[in-house]
Amino acid sequence: MDELYIGLMSGTSNDGIDTCLVNLSEQKFEVLGTCYQAYPQEIKTQLDELINNQTSPLATLSALDHSLAVLNAVAVNKLLQSCNIHKNSVAAIGYHGQTIYHEPTADKANSIQIGNPNFLAAHTNITVVADFRRMDMAVAGQGAPLVPAFHQSLFQDTLKNRAILNIGGIANLTILPKDKTLPVTGFDTGPGNALLNEWNQRHQHSDYDKDGQWAAKGNCIETLLQELLTDEYFSKPPPKSTGREYFNLNRLEQNVQLNIYNAQDIQTTLTHFSVQSIALALVSHAPETQQVFVCGGGINNHFLMDLLIKQLASIEIDSTEQIGLHPDWVEATAFAWLAKQRLLEKPGNITSVTGATREVLLGAIYKCT
Ligand SMILES: Nc1ncnc2c1ncn2[C@@H]1O[C@H](COP(=O)(O)OP(=O)(O)O)[C@@H](O)[C@H]1O
Ligand SMILES: [Mg+2]
Repeated sequence: MDELYIGLMSGTSNDGIDTCLVNLSEQKFEVLGTCYQAYPQEIKTQLDELINNQTSPLATLSALDHSLAVLNAVAVNKLLQSCNIHKNSVAAIGYHGQTIYHEPTADKANSIQIGNPNFLAAHTNITVVADFRRMDMAVAGQGAPLVPAFHQSLFQDTLKNRAILNIGGIANLTILPKDKTLPVTGFDTGPGNALLNEWNQRHQHSDYDKDGQWAAKGNCIETLLQELLTDEYFSKPPPKSTGREYFNLNRLEQNVQLNIYNAQDIQTTLTHFSVQSIALALVSHAPETQQVFVCGGGINNHFLMDLLIKQLASIEIDSTEQIGLHPDWVEATAFAWLAKQRLLEKPGNITSVTGATREVLLGAIYKCT
């Protein structure tokens, strides 16, 4: 019997909504349909303002909470229509929401995702599972990354030590040892696309550096790169997670002087920065890794991927497509899978990843009728 779930993911790039419909039955894992809905410019601007400056009025926050729910409901209904699937066939939607704040280390640790899940449940007539991160945080976990349990269920291999690298706004790694008696680990490595997007938007007036073309023609500023790599986040041991409130241009410019350099060379250097911080994380915390499978939008940045392949020359690097899932849909599918875990009352966190004191059920259930 088919077990259909929808996954909705909006990551730290603030670019839009990844939507997928998947069959998660024990007999057959299959992605049945996908849809990407870019955020309208107005929403992007409001989100950037809210996240980077943290000075937006509450009314803006509230309006965004509503507008994002509307966009997510539209995305779900579009997907169902394009797949010709009736809402009654869908067991639940795993709804990540848009992170506007993630601070796992403070005394008052919290992670806030917006996009009212009540509205989504009411306007799709499908059960929604949302607010995945905070139960893990309530038991002293980082609340992130949450995708490793899904990676483990789908991608772990008994012949080779694998790692899954997701290059979103922030990059994260899942380490899957071939010896299944060893713990699965995972953590955020630091910047993925977030700084690249911000710098590109400031100087090139487009959302992102398409295929890394701008960066590819610049020169890496070695002194700046070394300065950036001294950030204390990189020497912290896992479990660790981070967000755009930490890795953003405002904060970076408080610590290093950028305006003395050529803008294009800075884009090149920031691309090296993402690559070096990922490579450093792998070498320090998973030196036995034999294969890295990449997902997330960063895989389309050819310059970044070329640098990564050169930097990790002794490791096989490929797309998650090689192991059965297109890189654009790994994260959204993971949240569909986490929704299923919640309905089955099975834990979704891995304590060796998040540092939580115990396994817990992730997400709250929103059911309209
Ligand atoms: N062709 C491309 N060239 C360079 N970067 C790209 C390309 N396509 C997507 N990206 C990057 O991927 C990002 C979106 O990736 P995504 O996995 O959705 O991240 P997140 O999970 O943080 O939302 C874009 O903001 C952009 O930086
Ligand atoms: Mg995205």
